Amino acid sequence: MNRPTPTRLYLDHAATGWPKPENVYQAMDRYARDNGAAAGRGAYASGISADQIVASCRRRLARLIGVADPQQVALFSNGTTALNAAIFGVLRPGDQVVTTAIEHNSLLRPLESLRFDADVSLEIIPCDEAGRVDPQAILDRVTRKTKLVAVSHASNVTGAVQDIATVGKALRGTETLLLCDAAQTLGYLPIDLPEFGIDLLASPGHKGACGPLGTGLLAVSPKALERLRPTIFGGTGSVSESLVMPDAMPSRLEPGNLNVTALAGWDAGLAWLASDDPAARAGRLGQLAQLLRQCAAALPGVRAIGADHLPILSLTFAGTDVGLIASLLDTEYGIEARSGLHCAPLIHRQLGSSPGGTLRISAGHSTTPKQLQRFAAALREIVTELEIR
Ligand SMILES: Cc1ncc(COP(=O)(O)O)c(C=O)c1O
Repeated sequence: MNRPTPTRLYLDHAATGWPKPENVYQAMDRYARDNGAAAGRGAYASGISADQIVASCRRRLARLIGVADPQQVALFSNGTTALNAAIFGVLRPGDQVVTTAIEHNSLLRPLESLRFDADVSLEIIPCDEAGRVDPQAILDRVTRKTKLVAVSHASNVTGAVQDIATVGKALRGTETLLLCDAAQTLGYLPIDLPEFGIDLLASPGHKGACGPLGTGLLAVSPKALERLRPTIFGGTGSVSESLVMPDAMPSRLEPGNLNVTALAGWDAGLAWLASDDPAARAGRLGQLAQLLRQCAAALPGVRAIGADHLPILSLTFAGTDVGLIASLLDTEYGIEARSGLHCAPLIHRQLGSSPGGTLRISAGHSTTPKQLQRFAAALREIVTELEIR
C-alpha cells in the first residue's frame, strides 16, 4: 500500500458532527469578534445582545424537543455535564435506578459512583445482539423504590433506536422519572418530551444538533423539577443577595458564565436544522444507513452490527484487531473512523465484541453517498490485502 496522501474523509459523526453548517462558524466568529460580552450580567448593549443569543438558542432547543417553556431548558458544556446534573440532582441514598447495557460511561459512571458512595442500587437491563432493549424488560424491573429509569434514545455503538415512548408512557403518573440520553438522536430523529413521557432529556449539542463542541442541554419536566437539586453552585447574575441558588429554571442549573461563543454557533446550527425539511432529512439518513449496511454485507470474515435507523455501523473482523483496520483506513485512505469500546463497555459483552470492541463508522448531516462508496472500496481493499476470511 503506497499511495499519495489521500484527502480527509471524516466518518466519526457519532463522536461529534463535522463539518458544521457554514453559518455556525460565521455566527461564532461574529460574536467573538464584535461582541464578546457575558450573558446574564451587564445591562449594556453588548450584554443584552449576548442575552438575546442565549435566549434564541434556548427557544430553538425547546421547539426542537416539544417543550413549551424555553426556561425548562438548561445549557451545559457537553452531554456528560448535563447527565451528571440530572443523575446527581434527582437521586438520594437508598434509591433504585433501572438502566440498560447500551449506556455510555457518561451515564454509567455517575450511577456507579452513587452505587459505591450513596447506597443507590442499579438494575442493568441487557440488550439483544443488535443493541436493542425490550421496553417491557425495563418496566418489569421498576418498583416503588425506583426513582429513575435512565435510557439512551439510541446506542452510540450500533445506532439501535430504543422505544423510549413506551417506557415514558408507562411511567406517567408514577413517582419514577425517565431520563433519556439523546446524544445520538437529537437533531437526527424527532423527539417530543411530553409525547414520549420524558422527564429529563440530556444531550450534547455538538453531534446531530449542529452545535460546536462545548455545548449540551438538560431539559426538565415540571415533575422532575420537584426533585431536581442543583449540583454546581455559584453566581447566576440573579438574586445575588441570597447565598442559596435560585429556585427558578434555568438559573438553578446554570451558575457561572455561559460559553456564549459556542451558543452563538449552536443557535445558528439550530436555525440551519429548522430550515432542513425533516422528511428529506429522514430520507437522507435512511439512505446513508442502507449504504453503510451494504458496505460490509458481502465481505468475508466481517461481522456488521447496526445501521438500522441511524447511519452508525459497528464492524468486527475475524482474527484481526479493529485498531489495525482503523489505523489503515486513516493512514492509507484518509478515512477517519473510531475503534474500541466507544465509552460504552457493557454493550460489547452482549454483542460479543469484548474486549477489543468494534470499528465504528458513523455518518451525519454532511455525509454524502459518494463518501460512503469511497469507504466501501477502501474496506474491500483492506479485507482483501489482510486476507481476512
Ligand atoms: C450515547 C452518548 N451519551 C453521552 C455522550 C457524552 O457526550 P459528551 O461527549 O458531549 O459529554 C456521548 C458522546 O459520545 C454519547 O455517545
